[in-house]
Amino acid sequence: SLPAEVTIIEVGPRDGLQNEKEFVPTDVKKEFIARLKEAGITEMEITSFVSPKWVPQMQDADDIAFSCLTDHTREIILVPNTKGILRLYQTSCKAAAVFVGVSNSFNQKNINKTTEQSMTELVPLISELKEKGYFVRACISTAFYCPYEGKIDFQDTLKLCRQFAEAGADELSVADTIGMAVPSESYQLFSMLVKEFPNTLLTAHFHDTRKMALANIYAALQAGISRFDTSAGGLGGCPFAPGASGNAATEDVVYMLERMNIQTNIDLNKLLRAVDAVKPYLTRPIESMYYKLHT
Ligand code: HMG
Ligand code: MG
Repeated sequence: SLPAEVTIIEVGPRDGLQNEKEFVPTDVKKEFIARLKEAGITEMEITSFVSPKWVPQMQDADDIAFSCLTDHTREIILVPNTKGILRLYQTSCKAAAVFVGVSNSFNQKNINKTTEQSMTELVPLISELKEKGYFVRACISTAFYCPYEGKIDFQDTLKLCRQFAEAGADELSVADTIGMAVPSESYQLFSMLVKEFPNTLLTAHFHDTRKMALANIYAALQAGISRFDTSAGGLGGCPFAPGASGNAATEDVVYMLERMNIQTNIDLNKLLRAVDAVKPYLTRPIESMYYKLHT
């Protein structure tokens, strides 16, 4: 049976904006984040501590991190390595998202390390974060398909998830980075994850490249998943994953769930106002159907 309630993890300020070519002013990002909170978002990736040379859009990450903290929202910062975690320690943010690709080729392009090298670096850091009381989210990229290696063996995805769970990660966010999964695959992988990790928060992260995100979310719901990463306005995409377009749009997902009597505790009108805050600064149109129909 489907869950009565779903948690939305908003990734718009991070995944949503990182692929935008023109720099979005810092104050606009702050307004976007503030309005997302007003709409009822309780967990959100607010920025990433990555190299500003690799991802110039995130050059204002320290500023965002210092100014955006409240007690009601779990504000998460993406960190790829030791340096990112040291930057996190300088802030009062209490949640880290580490990210590693199942595919070596992708991980090399994204963070300049093999999957194994990343894990060797991150596993002791996860223990340290846990000792210090941080919430640790582990993002598993290319869990279904890789732009360089093609189809991923789910056993490899499970193995990486196992390493993160054993290291102490609180949450596994399992991603279809290039939006190539279909619902049968979503159901299959998430069913395996639900069975193997009953004590870890499990989250599904779908990109909508082939317009399969909503269908994949429905399949994951049926597999027992009740946490979804989504991006307001359907923004998003990884600069190092060719063909990766936006995430599932928060407003389309919330609309679908609410119509199915699954509670999200998110106010759709206020969500649209959050999209309005960044829209004038984007170089691409808003693709979400709910936004198009209601503005
Ligand atoms: P590198 O060049 O191998 O790094 O990049 P390095 O350790 O050799 O250091 C080179 C320079 O970068 C040095 O500075 C370091 O200080 C600096 P310099 O001496 O040249 O001035 N540096 C950093 N600066 C700030 N923050 C840091 C940091 N680390 C090193 N944390 C690195 C390695 C990981 C830094 C680089 O590859 C990088 O930044 N990658 C990030 C890529 C990224 O942001 N991708 C998008 C996010 S992942 C995603 O979107 C997928 C997800 O949504 C799930 C899904 O959909 O699949 C999560
Ligand atoms: Mg993503």
